[in-house]
Amino acid sequence: MARRYHITTFGCQMNKADSERMAGILETMGFEYEDNAEVADLILYNTCTIRDQAEQKVYSYLGKQAIRKKTNPNLTLIVAGCVAQQEGEALLRRVPELDLVMGPQYANQLEDLLTQVFNGSQVVATDPIHIMEDITKPRRDSAVTAWVNVIYGCNERCTYCVVPGVRGIEQSRTPDAIKAEMENLALQGYKEITLLGQNIDAYGRDLLGSKPDGQHLHTLTDLLYHVHDIEGIDRIRFATSHPRYFTERLIKACAELPKICEHFHIPFQSGDNDILKAMSRGYTHEKYRRIIDTVRAYMPDASVSGDAIVGFPGETEEQFQSTLNLMQDIGFDMVNTAAYSPRPGTPAALWENQISEEVKIDRLQRINHLVSQSAQTRSDRYAGRIEEVLVEDQNYKDKTQVVGRTRANRLTFLKGTIEELKGKTVPVKITAVRPFSLTGEQVVPVIA
Ligand code: SAH
Ligand code: SF4
Ligand code: F3S
Repeated sequence: MARRYHITTFGCQMNKADSERMAGILETMGFEYEDNAEVADLILYNTCTIRDQAEQKVYSYLGKQAIRKKTNPNLTLIVAGCVAQQEGEALLRRVPELDLVMGPQYANQLEDLLTQVFNGSQVVATDPIHIMEDITKPRRDSAVTAWVNVIYGCNERCTYCVVPGVRGIEQSRTPDAIKAEMENLALQGYKEITLLGQNIDAYGRDLLGSKPDGQHLHTLTDLLYHVHDIEGIDRIRFATSHPRYFTERLIKACAELPKICEHFHIPFQSGDNDILKAMSRGYTHEKYRRIIDTVRAYMPDASVSGDAIVGFPGETEEQFQSTLNLMQDIGFDMVNTAAYSPRPGTPAALWENQISEEVKIDRLQRINHLVSQSAQTRSDRYAGRIEEVLVEDQNYKDKTQVVGRTRANRLTFLKGTIEELKGKTVPVKITAVRPFSLTGEQVVPVIA
């Protein structure tokens, strides 16, 4: 019988993309996917350390498997991703049953690392490396939408954030490598691509060459033009944008290029200038507002989402109110919120003006209330409208329905069978609106 592998993925889209690649490698090595970790022969936890809660979850999962390994010495246990990078050898001391600890930069070298493990070594792979151009075949979760990495790492130094420490310095892929991957995905029938980077606006600044005006030769805007016309790809998205680098040229390109979806995920983190400064974000709330104004001047109906942190060290009630004010004024379609979590190796974790858990939780509840209110208001505008929905999957809770997303990224349910509609773009009349999802009916036969 083939050996069975199981992967549990925590964290962001980069981790999900890495997991798909590692799953692809394991399948090329002859492993078969197993949904139930309890019976798998190889378990890989692809971990996240953005907040303490995310990290603690990994230890509780690992503890269980370490016990199982005592009775089943053939079990292979792997910790990959950001906790692996952050903790390195310390993880082996904490969980000696581990076979392999590997940082995110090693995702496409899983086969080599496993060969060392099967030869009897316990392996830690966390030294910074140049990420080799990917030749692995990912096992992608969806057959309709796919992620494509364009830049790895992050060179920013936001004072709360572990990402630069665990993902390393920025490494852009070449425009041609990205285009080739997208062309290949188009041939396999994928319809929607999300270009990925922790700070995607930094794309290209580490590649050689500059233009006469001093701008680097390859920018995200140039990349969008470079990959736009691939036949078969209907929609292109990108994430995550940084307000410090978000340009009008980029906004213009998005307005001009029909396949780029009118959805912008631009984390603001706070609406208070002193907090933004303490976070080292490099912009003011006024600049953030100007960006959104410009987006809406070019694309009045664009959807806008962001991330916010509450209870950052020193945040007063008044400063928190400034964040709520910003949100009220902008009218976000969606905001990911989090209570500030002090992270090892980050400057803000050492500051003495930490906010109590009680205050953080209170602010989190209040901000979340506003998030759903504002999401509901934004959903309301779709009622009765016809939206293009790219169908991705069956609705597992109601098998008479399928689910997809509008160009603005709203999850939308409609009657239909997945056999008929998968990967199709369907005009849907919206009949019910909720904060984070819509329901509608297909109005005319499928267009594409
Ligand atoms: N690169 C993106 C986001 C990276 S992490 C950006 O620059 O915005 C995703 C989100 O996690 C962040 O936007 C932030 O809101 C949140 N986050 C990061 N570090 C955090 C911390 N220490 N405590 C709480 N939230 C945090
Ligand atoms: Fe973290 Fe800031 Fe980089 Fe985003 S831009 S990943 S918040 S350091
Ligand atoms: Fe988490 Fe690493 Fe992503 S810390 S948010 S998985 S970059």
